[in-house]
Amino acid sequence: MQHNKYINRLFDMIKDALKGERYDFIKYKNLMELTDNKEIIENIRYAYLDEGKHYKMFLEIFKDLTSEIIEVPAPEVEKCRLIDGIKTGIQGELKAVELYRQIRAMLDSKKHRDMLFEIITDEQEHATRFVYLYSMLK
Ligand SMILES: [Fe+2]
Ligand SMILES: [Fe+2]
Repeated sequence: MQHNKYINRLFDMIKDALKGERYDFIKYKNLMELTDNKEIIENIRYAYLDEGKHYKMFLEIFKDLTSEIIEVPAPEVEKCRLIDGIKTGIQGELKAVELYRQIRAMLDSKKHRDMLFEIITDEQEHATRFVYLYSMLK
């Protein structure tokens, strides 16, 4: 890692990732409360639990790089209908994949790149689950 500008850009992207993970964690918790259907809840719960894991992983990466422990405040998440939440969830997951691919390309260590690979493949799985739920609900 060379220039300050480059490093600051990486840190900003990791902060965006942390915000996004917290947002999705809260959003998916809200969505699970909108239905009694076990299959729907089960599929959302996979994503919900992963976002909690991802949040911790990004915190660890940030701490490894800066020796700083940061906290991202819980963002405001608007309530929405289940099907709308699932639909925006598909787009959100795919956008996260794009951001995380950029972050991965900027990380040097194998440990961090492997962590991003795990997170990226999780998000791709979430998108697939949500596409399934969307086709079920519409
Ligand atoms: Fe995530
Ligand atoms: Fe996700």
